[in-house]
Amino acid sequence: MKLHIASMLDAQKRHISFHTPGHKRRGYDITELSYSDCLLAPRGVLKAAEEDIARLLGAARSFMLTEGSTSGVYSMLLALREQGVKRLAAPVFSHPSVKNACEVLGLELVLIAQETAFGIPVQPAASALSAALEQADALLLTSPDYYGNVPPLSAARALADAARKPLVLDGAHGGHLHFTPELYAGSYADLWVDGVHKSLPAMTQGAVVSAKTERWGHVLEGAVKKLRTTSPSYPIMASVELAVKFPQNVRIEAAARAFKQAYGCVDNADWTKILVPFGAECKNAQTYLERHGVYPEFNDGNYLMFYLSPCTKARELRRLGKLLEKLPRGDVPQGAPAGMVPMYAVEGS
Ligand SMILES: Cc1ncc(COP(=O)(O)O)c(C=O)c1O
Repeated sequence: MKLHIASMLDAQKRHISFHTPGHKRRGYDITELSYSDCLLAPRGVLKAAEEDIARLLGAARSFMLTEGSTSGVYSMLLALREQGVKRLAAPVFSHPSVKNACEVLGLELVLIAQETAFGIPVQPAASALSAALEQADALLLTSPDYYGNVPPLSAARALADAARKPLVLDGAHGGHLHFTPELYAGSYADLWVDGVHKSLPAMTQGAVVSAKTERWGHVLEGAVKKLRTTSPSYPIMASVELAVKFPQNVRIEAAARAFKQAYGCVDNADWTKILVPFGAECKNAQTYLERHGVYPEFNDGNYLMFYLSPCTKARELRRLGKLLEKLPRGDVPQGAPAGMVPMYAVEGS
């Protein structure tokens, strides 16, 4: 599939720059020029890229973001507010941007309690979502979460439909799931964000926020325009288009699933998140792996988490396996404290 933005950047002619950016290097990092389109009012390559992205993600409208999923969360919540939402229900282990956006936008947050099991937040049950929706005008869920778990998506959609209230999904960790419709945020949500820089090969901060219907697309467009930079990064936008168009890597998906079984990893829904329980051995294991040039995504005191993408090589997974074989494991007890802190405990972040 054609990469509209990268093709335009490749076709650039050398020219004298009397325009921003100030480094004047005339490389991929250009600004909005006569031939490069304008993200706030796209008519050319950026419009073509966003239309392709929407088609691939099953959205009526999709908007490229160069300021991370955080700006997608803010945009979705502003769109909700513009449609009259005053109270938003969201689980306690949501990303801090949810709490922050509610504060900034004057939305009341109805917190949905989450238990933890073996130190991992448990996604709320459908009954908890139903109770929360009774007290709120809209529901936000994280799918998948950092630990690769998904909430009861079908039930959430049915509850939202029955209550005639919008469902928005924070898919900051689920950009790769458009190949797996039953797990994909876009199969359920009215509005959702895909953090394509996390699990797909976009540059850091690359994300996409989407709307399921034209009506929501119109509202979301207004919200995105109010919140986005007027100097979007072309390298990031080109990488967002590439990431969404990046082919599925069924070989590494299968290798990841086999790896989880072979190395006693936590069972979860998302192949890109490999959680290895180390308990008290976490720090030693991390130090050992990093000394051998292998860096995990996080160490939460109970688990080391290894984050994969379609660009992960099978030989890299094999190398990880060989190193894991040498490492002692500690237990993670059922009552282990969560490594992640509830968003309300993340003061000022
Ligand atoms: C669940 C969740 N939502 C949103 C975000 C924000 O994403 P970004 O860092 O791209 O702004 C994160 C970041 O880790 C996250 O974990």
